[in-house]
Amino acid sequence: MALKQVALVSTMAVCALARCGAELSPELKANYKIPTPAASIASADTIEVNTYIHVVSNGSTIDDGYLTSEQLDKQKAVLNNVFADYSIHFNFLDTDYTENADWAHGIMTQDMTSALRKGSYKDLNLFFLGSMGGQVTGQCSFPLNLTDFPDPSTMVSRDGCMIVSNTIPGGPHLTYNLGLNAVHEVGHWFGLIHVFTDTCGGNGDEVEDTPEQATETYGCPIGKDSCPDFPGVDSIHNYMDYSDDGCKTEFTPGQVSRMHNAWSTYRESQ
Ligand SMILES: *[C@@H]1O[C@H](CO)[C@@H](O)[C@H](O)[C@H]1NC(C)=O
Ligand SMILES: *[C@@H]1O[C@H](CO)[C@@H](O)[C@H](O)[C@H]1NC(C)=O
Ligand SMILES: [Zn+2]
Repeated sequence: MALKQVALVSTMAVCALARCGAELSPELKANYKIPTPAASIASADTIEVNTYIHVVSNGSTIDDGYLTSEQLDKQKAVLNNVFADYSIHFNFLDTDYTENADWAHGIMTQDMTSALRKGSYKDLNLFFLGSMGGQVTGQCSFPLNLTDFPDPSTMVSRDGCMIVSNTIPGGPHLTYNLGLNAVHEVGHWFGLIHVFTDTCGGNGDEVEDTPEQATETYGCPIGKDSCPDFPGVDSIHNYMDYSDDGCKTEFTPGQVSRMHNAWSTYRESQ
C-alpha cells in the first residue's frame, strides 16, 4: 500500500525547474517495465490516436492561455509532422474552451482534468494553459498499468498533457516556440523519460541507443558531453532533452520502440 501511495503522486512527468523536471520515483520505476518488442516496428503499424484539445484561459491573450483555432492548427500540424516519421498519427476530434482563472494557471489541475477529459485511456487529451508556475512549460502523465491501482478511474481522470500556450509554433516563448514542447510532453504520454535521467552509468532513460547523459541541456551546445567516460555525446537534438526548439530534431529508434510498446501494453486496449 505504501508503494502504491508513492506511485499515485509520482505518475506525472512534472515539468518543473526550467521546464519539465521530476521523473518517475524509484519505487514506480522499479515496477515500470515496458516490454521489449518482439519485432521491429513496421510502417504499416501506424498508431492512430484520437485526440481532444482543451483550451483553458482567463482572458483572450496567449498569456491568459487563449489560442485561436488558427494557432491550434499550427500546433496540430507540428505534432502530426513530427510523429509521422515514427508511425504515430493524431486524429484531432474536438476542441473545447473553458474560462477558469485557477485552472488556466496550473492550480487545481486534477479538478480540471477530471472535469474536461474526454474518451478513454487510449485517447490523448491536451490541455493548453496560460502558465503553470515559474518557468514550467508542461507536464504529462506516463502510461500506467491501470490494474496496479486501487482506483483505476482516478488515474484515467488525471491522464493527459498540460502545455503552456505560449510554446505553440510562432508563440512568444523565447526558446520553445516551434511547437516542440508539445512533442516532448506527448513523448512522456507514450512512456518516454528524459534523456538526462540518472547519473553516468545508471539506468538512464531505459532506452539502449541514447548515450549516457547526466545533465539537462539548454540552448544548443554542440558537442556537450556530460558523461565523457562513456560512449557518445549528449542527446542535445533529442525531443526528450530541454534544448531550444531549434535544436531538437529526433527520437531514436529505441525511443520509438518504447513508445509503440507502451501504447500496445498500456493504452491500446483500454
Ligand atoms: C489571468 O491570470 C493571470 C495570472 O493570475 C493574470 O496575470 C492576468 O492578468 C489574468 N488575465 C485577465 C484578463 O484577467
Ligand atoms: C499489470 O498489473 C497486473 C496486476 O498487478 C499484472 O497481473 C499484469 O501482468 C500487469 N501487466 C503488465 C503488462 O505489466
Ligand atoms: Zn519532460
